[in-house]
Parts: sequence; C-alpha cells; structure tokens
Amino acid sequence: MIQIREACEYDAKRFAKMQLQIDGETDYMLYGAGEREITTKDARKRIEFFADLPYSLILVAEDMETDELIGFLIADGNPPNRMQHSVYIAVGVVKSHWGQGVATRLFTHMETWAKARGVVRRIELGVLCENKAALHLYQNLGYEIEGTHRDSFMIGTDYYDTYWMSKLI
Ligand SMILES: CC(C)(COP(=O)(O)OP(=O)(O)OC[C@H]1O[C@@H](n2cnc3c(N)ncnc32)[C@H](O)[C@@H]1OP(=O)(O)O)[C@@H](O)C(=O)NCCC(=O)NCCS
Repeated sequence: MIQIREACEYDAKRFAKMQLQIDGETDYMLYGAGEREITTKDARKRIEFFADLPYSLILVAEDMETDELIGFLIADGNPPNRMQHSVYIAVGVVKSHWGQGVATRLFTHMETWAKARGVVRRIELGVLCENKAALHLYQNLGYEIEGTHRDSFMIGTDYYDTYWMSKLI
C-alpha cells in the first residue's frame, strides 16, 4: 500500500536517498546523476523549513510494505501578497513505481491542500517538451501549456525547450 502524506523530519534520510535515486533514474529533473549531494541534515532542514511555511508543502509517497519513500511533490509558494495565490510544483517518482498512479495521487493531495488554503488560484510548473510521461500526466490533470522556454535546459552539450504549464483552480 502507498500512503501519501506531508513530509516530517523523520523522513530526512529516506527523502535524501529518494531524491538522489530519482536524479539518477531520469534526465528530466533539474540535477543529473551524481551531480549533487544531499545529506540527511540538508534534507531535514528543508523539510522543517517547508513545514513552517503556510504557503508551501512537501508531500511524500511511502511504500508501507518496504518503508521506503518512492515519490515526492514539492509545492513552493510565495510570501509577497501579490504572488501568494501562485505555487510552483516539482514532482518525482522512483522508476520501479512509475505508471501506478503515484504522481496522480500526489497532485490530488496537493490540490486539496491548495483549495483548503483559500488563496491559491494558480498552480504552475515547467516540463521538458520531450518528457511525454510528465506532459500526459499534467494534461490529464487539467494543466495547460502557456508557452515555450527556448533552450532553457542544457543536458551535456545539447539544449532543450521546456513548456511552462499552469492550472487555475
Ligand atoms: C512523470 C512522473 C512523475 C509520472 O509519475 P507516475 O506516478 O508514473 O504517474 P501516474 O502513474 O500517476 O500516471 C498518470 C498519467 O501520466 C501519464 N503517464 C505516466 N507514465 C507515462 C508514460 N511512460 N508514457 C506516457 N504517459 C505516461 C499517463 O497519462 C497516466 O495516465 P493514465 O493512467 O491515464 O495512463 C514519473 O514518471 C517520474 O517521476 N519521472 C521522472 C521525473 C520527472 O520526469 N518528473 C517530472 C519533471 S517535470
């Protein structure tokens, strides 16, 4: 069984491990395989920082059979009044659990939180144009392409476009 819930400080070690694993399993995240280090302390600081912010959220998906974290969603909001209605999303699921509805459940949970906050109007994200799985996921969930950021990613020596997408709730 997979449980979706808010991250807590006790997740720090498993959270760091999961993020580094996902970095190594796909070319579609911001960081490449082995490019960054995340210590348990770093992860704990980040989780605690987010937990104190009313406008941001870290969700995790936990496999209750193995006790492993297998997915995350970060909703990053903004302190200024004029931007408080907007949150930016980053999401990842470990490869062994792709295609099992984990990301969909993370989004559903996040949107319930966003609606409950009352002020959130706009949920936005960026995605590499060639990341078909993520693009389908977002379009299934009602996110629309607003435009293209040209050559906004560089992987090795090649440039890649990204779509900017949003959903108004
Ligand atoms: C993109 C990602 C988050 C999707 O997570 P997931 O848990 O596998 O997604 P779900 O199982 O909830 O899939 C939901 C929808 O996504 C789409 N989808 C998922 N995998 C797909 C694939 N390989 N090809 C095409 N569409 C796919 C489908 O439309 C699916 O809907 P369906 O059930 O009607 O078929 C996951 O593949 C991942 O972490 N990839 C690597 C990191 C990444 O790309 N993050 C996003 C950066 S913008």
